[in-house]
Amino acid sequence: QSGYITLDPGFKNTGSTESAITFLDGEKGILRYRGYPIEQLAEHSNFIEVAYLLINGKLPNRHELDQFQGTINRHSLVHENMKLMLQAFPAHAHPMGVLSSLMASLSTFYPESQNPHRAPEMVNLTIIRLLSKMPTLAAMAHRNSSGAPIMYPKNSLGYLENFLYMMFGMPTEEFSIDPVIVDALDKLLILHADHEQNCSTSTVRIVGSSQANLYSSISAGVSALWGPLHGGANQAVIEMLENIKADGGNIEKWIDKAKDKDDSFRLMGFGHRVYKNFDPRAKIIKKAADDVLNKLGINDPVLEIAKKLEEIALQDEYFVQRNLYPNVDFYSGIIYRALGIPTEMFTVMFALGRLPGWIAQWKEMTERKEPIGRPRQVYIGENVRDYVHMADR
Ligand code: SDX
Repeated sequence: QSGYITLDPGFKNTGSTESAITFLDGEKGILRYRGYPIEQLAEHSNFIEVAYLLINGKLPNRHELDQFQGTINRHSLVHENMKLMLQAFPAHAHPMGVLSSLMASLSTFYPESQNPHRAPEMVNLTIIRLLSKMPTLAAMAHRNSSGAPIMYPKNSLGYLENFLYMMFGMPTEEFSIDPVIVDALDKLLILHADHEQNCSTSTVRIVGSSQANLYSSISAGVSALWGPLHGGANQAVIEMLENIKADGGNIEKWIDKAKDKDDSFRLMGFGHRVYKNFDPRAKIIKKAADDVLNKLGINDPVLEIAKKLEEIALQDEYFVQRNLYPNVDFYSGIIYRALGIPTEMFTVMFALGRLPGWIAQWKEMTERKEPIGRPRQVYIGENVRDYVHMADR
């Protein structure tokens, strides 16, 4: 404490807002979107319906859902100049960097971004544009690195089929996608859709609190998500599992490395700021990983290493004492890999899933007219001192 300032690095014990969107109970491993348990939504709902629920606060009836889906489909094209922008990026550019740049540039194409008063109908149009164009931009980010031609969206396809078509389709071939892949992806995106005030959502809120437009706020969220301690963990998990596999499957050696204070290596996909028993999403994703690999007839040795690593870590005192359990990122990469998603696109998949949550949180913050975010600090620098002229230095 210093005067009236309470220092709380990482905001571990600070509530930044009141929200009616997502409920988490870290002790009991509970996650609900607008009161609906994540287990039921993952089982019975679909990603577009969950997006509607998060943003509008209720499950849509048939007419509302059809209208929402139909409107989204009709905004999936992006300005042709964005293809020229893509040519400016090097082929090795990480898709998250390309995506955050393209998302930020959306605000230069749409006049409503400059509308400081954000009339509700303009906000709704921006929301539809974001939901509709992000999959197009995400697929463009992938095509930039693969060198394949950009695929234009097809409005006759569903939301996820359209994304997979833009990711993997070719102008020279007919396109078909295994429904197992679409169902698995749908479930994964539902599980990633919101998670209360995590790092990237707090970033979206604080950027939006300055009344920056929603496109720029979402672009900031994409950048925050990229970090390996946050959404970038799903890519880091697969790289870690591949390293363990290359190292002869020597799991104990890598667990010791993660426990070694002198070694910066952490067990990626383990631990969570809020969940101190288990991440309910990890339980669902672990089962889905088994289902998808069985249905697709894939035997991925990396999945076996992941299960073995989890088993050993959960019996290791270091991890038990610190309440370190697999989180949402531990198994998700194994499914993305089975679906043919390239490793560097895993965090882009996380961003696609989290988009409705970011939008819902920004909308709630805006509607509640919350003040600009501006934390204080405890100063630990130099005391007052006079300027020293160059001749005297
Ligand atoms: C996501 O917040 C959200 O909701 C995020 C998310 C979402 O949906 O938005 O759930 C998505 O980001 C999941 C987390 C993905 N990140 C990783 O898997 C990276 C590895 N995990 C960690 O770096 C860590 O667990 C965090 C970042 C997730 C949480 O960090 P905290 O809460 O700040 O905890 P900490 O870093 O203070 O660690 C507490 C102790 C430390 O040891 P001591 O100093 O007490 O001796 O646990 C240790 C840490 O060294 N520790 C780990 C570890 N995670 C924490 N040691 C080894 N391996 C790990 N993974």
